Amino acid sequence: MTLKEEVRRFWDKVPCGTRDVRLTEGSPEYFSAIEQDRDAKEPFIADFARFSEQRGKRVLEVGFGAGTDFVRFARAGAVLTGIDLTEHGARLVRARLAHEGLSADIHVGDAENLPFADGTFDLVYSWGVIHHTEDTPRAAREIARVVKPGGRVCVMVYHRHSLVALQCWILNALLRGRPWRTLSDVIFHHIESLGTQAYSLAEAKNLFSSLSSVAVTPRLTPYDVRITRNKYLPVWLRRFIPNRMGWFLVIEGIK
Ligand SMILES: C[S@@+](CC[C@H](N)C(=O)[O-])C[C@H]1O[C@@H](n2cnc3c(N)ncnc32)[C@H](O)[C@@H]1O
Repeated sequence: MTLKEEVRRFWDKVPCGTRDVRLTEGSPEYFSAIEQDRDAKEPFIADFARFSEQRGKRVLEVGFGAGTDFVRFARAGAVLTGIDLTEHGARLVRARLAHEGLSADIHVGDAENLPFADGTFDLVYSWGVIHHTEDTPRAAREIARVVKPGGRVCVMVYHRHSLVALQCWILNALLRGRPWRTLSDVIFHHIESLGTQAYSLAEAKNLFSSLSSVAVTPRLTPYDVRITRNKYLPVWLRRFIPNRMGWFLVIEGIK
């Protein structure tokens, strides 16, 4: 099986953010549970995506997963297109839009070969996706290609120099008597789908070096301060941990 097929199977089996939801798949309660979980864990997305500013704008989401951000672009009135590697994600997103009487152009396809003309979109948004594809630089080039001159690119990729990466290394390298394993190696093999990559700030910036401006900001996440699967460090303690040790690198660029 190719790496791309492994990645597709992984996300097709359990779309992102649905693992802990024990409700009937596709029901309104199911979607609202996914949305509540997203708001609790990643509340900073709204400021980054600026959903409310997208009315009438041509927006592409690359890797929509179960569609939690996607539906928010649709609610805001964006002229919306989405693409994901999995049929399962596309099915969920179609159902989710139908529940709310919304519509969008949905594609099942590959971020490395976007089926859109150069300069099509005002915004290309991709949250936690292109680090899962084998040729991330190619996916980044595709994103930059399809955005209009003057348009915006908003992407999140994983950060190698973060607490999540360190925890992964302690568990899978140090505690297993293999301290020579690198951060990249443990992330590749043990975080989500096989082949996951994580970047330094400079590498993340370099992915989008063809854009006229790019800013990369690390963001501390609940996953960085997790004690057990559902327990986190107390909020007062988290204040002492700098954002630069966070698992998410949010990249904002203008073409
Ligand atoms: C961690 S999930 C993120 C989903 C969504 N953006 C979110 O935040 O909930 C990763 C998603 O990327 C998709 N994906 C991985 N590789 C892809 C590729 N080459 N092209 C398109 N989608 C891809 C997967 O199918 C999955 O839905």
